[in-house]
Amino acid sequence: MKRAFIIGHPISHSLSPKMHKFWLDELGIEGSYEAIDVAPENLEAELKRLQNAGYVGGNVTIPHKEAVMKFCDEIVGLAKGKTKAINTLVFIENKIVGYNSDVYGFSKNLSSNGIDFDNINSCLVIGAGGAAIAILTELRMFFPPSNIGQSNRIIYVTNRTRDKSAYLSKEFECCVIDWDKKETILPSVDLVINTTSLGMKGQPELDINLNDLRKNSIVTDIVYNPLETNLLKQSHSLGIKTVDGLGMLIYQGVLGFTKWFGVDPSTKEGLLEKTRELLVKNLS
Ligand code: ATR
Repeated sequence: MKRAFIIGHPISHSLSPKMHKFWLDELGIEGSYEAIDVAPENLEAELKRLQNAGYVGGNVTIPHKEAVMKFCDEIVGLAKGKTKAINTLVFIENKIVGYNSDVYGFSKNLSSNGIDFDNINSCLVIGAGGAAIAILTELRMFFPPSNIGQSNRIIYVTNRTRDKSAYLSKEFECCVIDWDKKETILPSVDLVINTTSLGMKGQPELDINLNDLRKNSIVTDIVYNPLETNLLKQSHSLGIKTVDGLGMLIYQGVLGFTKWFGVDPSTKEGLLEKTRELLVKNLS
């Protein structure tokens, strides 16, 4: 029996165990996915214990996403570069291999909702934390800076703390927009992305007026609890297409599950739709 885990601190709120257990049942795989609370000071010892106990790997969540990097023998893909955060571990023989599947989850969520990056020329990224860095890394794959013939493709970044957005503007060649003036850029953006925790249950709302956003623009939120954040509610009332954050959670999970258990849950017809229904029922 293959065993996987999610480690974090705290961990009881995580929806991942429900999702992975559902996939194990639906796909008839003998396996387990356990939530394990690991305090920061115990991270190294716990990783060793999990490795020795024969786990196939697992997810890593707050506050360990950066700290876990130094315990990886190999870091794969975008996590190796500027992203600097890992949320998926695969134990192979004696090695710990780290991935960032949030990045994959973000773009897969948009593409599975019919968003074609070829049709997007400018984005506004709200926030400059770890999630923003992961998303900017991914966006820059689709919109390489200074590509001949694509010079009109611009990424704007706005953040409460200007220094952080200024740093990202250098790293990713973006334009910084002042937090208090973010509405002024809306008439010229095709895609608005909230990468902050604002709007999440228990957090303050994201204060933005979308009246000046074009009706054919798209708004997406990485927050999925509530599923329809105020940002998305406002977009709906203006007739603007939205993509909620739950798909990002589901698709980041698909990548890990496939690596640990050898079956891709997205290949079973209707499974991801059923997963979504299950998770929506479990949002509290
Ligand atoms: P994560 O790694 O999940 O992105 P983070 O690195 O703590 O988390 O980043 C959180 C983001 O939410 C930051 O952009 C933060 O803005 P600051 O850089 O100014 O802190 C933003 N954020 C959090 N609370 C906020 C608030 N009340 N108002 C505006 N922005 C907020």
